[in-house]
Amino acid sequence: MHDVYSDLSAVIAGVRFQNPVIAASGTFGYGREYRELLDVSCLGGICTKGLTLNPRQGNTGRRLHETPSGLLNSIGLENPGIPSFLEKELPALRELGPVVIANLSGADVEEYAEGARLLDESSVDMIELNISCPNVKKGGMAFGLDPENAASVVAAARKAAAHKPLMVKLSPNAPDLTAVAQACVDSGADALSLVNTFKAMAIDIYRRKPVFDNVTAGLSGPAIKPIALRMVWELSERFPAVPLVGIGGIASAEDALEFLMAGACAVQVGSATFAHPPASAEIIGGIAAYMVDRRCASLRELRIEKPGCRGNGENPRY
Ligand SMILES: Cc1cc2nc3c(=O)[nH]c(=O)nc-3n(C[C@H](O)[C@H](O)[C@H](O)COP(=O)(O)O)c2cc1C
Repeated sequence: MHDVYSDLSAVIAGVRFQNPVIAASGTFGYGREYRELLDVSCLGGICTKGLTLNPRQGNTGRRLHETPSGLLNSIGLENPGIPSFLEKELPALRELGPVVIANLSGADVEEYAEGARLLDESSVDMIELNISCPNVKKGGMAFGLDPENAASVVAAARKAAAHKPLMVKLSPNAPDLTAVAQACVDSGADALSLVNTFKAMAIDIYRRKPVFDNVTAGLSGPAIKPIALRMVWELSERFPAVPLVGIGGIASAEDALEFLMAGACAVQVGSATFAHPPASAEIIGGIAAYMVDRRCASLRELRIEKPGCRGNGENPRY
C-alpha cells in the first residue's frame, strides 16, 4: 500500500526532488553542518546560505533575536563568496544526496549576473535568485520590491545562467507582490519561492536603542505562516502553471500540508530547524503518513482546486 499511495516526489522546472521538503537558505549552512543531527540524505533539497560573488563579513552587532513565535535575523549575507563555495563546499554538498540549490544574491545587476554565470558552469542543480534579503544596504530586497527592478535582475541572471533552472525568491514586503511575480515570470523565472523574511525590528528598552545595528531585521518563524500561506494561495490562483515553493513558519507536517494544499509544489523549512534540527525529516514522515492514510497517490492530489483557476499545474513547460 505504501508504494501505491505515497509518491512524494516533486518535479520543479525539470528537476526531480525525492520529496517536497527543502532546507531553506541561511538556516542549513552548506548541509554538512547538520550531518550529525539528522539524516541529511532524506531531504528533497538543500538551499545554500545566500551567496555573493565576493566574500561578505555580514552585519555587525546582534544578529539574532527571538520574538514570541518568531525570530528576527540580521545576518547580512555573510558568506565566503562563490569561487570559494564552488571549491570548498560544493563537492561535499553534492555528496549528501538531495537536490542542490544555490541561493544567489548581489549588490547590483552586474554582480548577480557574474554570480549566475559562475553557478551556471558548476554542478548545482538550480539557482534560487534572492531578490528579497532585507538585511543588506545595497541590492537584495531592493530588487524584489519593484517589478521593473525585479525584471532587470531576473533577465540578467536568466541570460547569464542559460543552462540552470531559475527560481526567484520573493519578498513579502513588496507593495504589489503579484506585479513583482509577473515581472519575474515574464523575465524568465522557471519557478517562484515565497516568502523571505518580513522587515521588522525590536528595541532594547534597557539601552533605549534598536536591538540591531541596522535598526531593522527580518522576521521568520510561526508568526509569519498565515501571511505566507495567504500569499502562496493568491499567487497560485494568479499563476496556476508556475511552480511555487512555499516558505514561512513551516514547523510541522500539518504546516507543510497547508502550503501544498494552497498550491505549492514544495516547501522550505527554515527557522524550525534551529529550534529542532530533525524538523525537516519529521515533516517528510508526516506528509507520507498523511498521504498513505488519505490514499493520495501524488502531491498534486493534495492541492485544493480553486474555482475559475483552469489548468492547475498542467503547463507542459513545468
Ligand atoms: C538566520 C537566517 C538567515 C537567512 N539567510 C537567508 C539567505 O541567505 N538567503 C535567503 O534567501 N533567505 C535567507 N533567510 C530566509 C529563509 O530562507 C526563509 O525564507 C525565512 O526564514 C522564512 O522561513 P521560516 O519562517 O521557515 O524561517 C534566512 C533566515 C534566517 C532565519
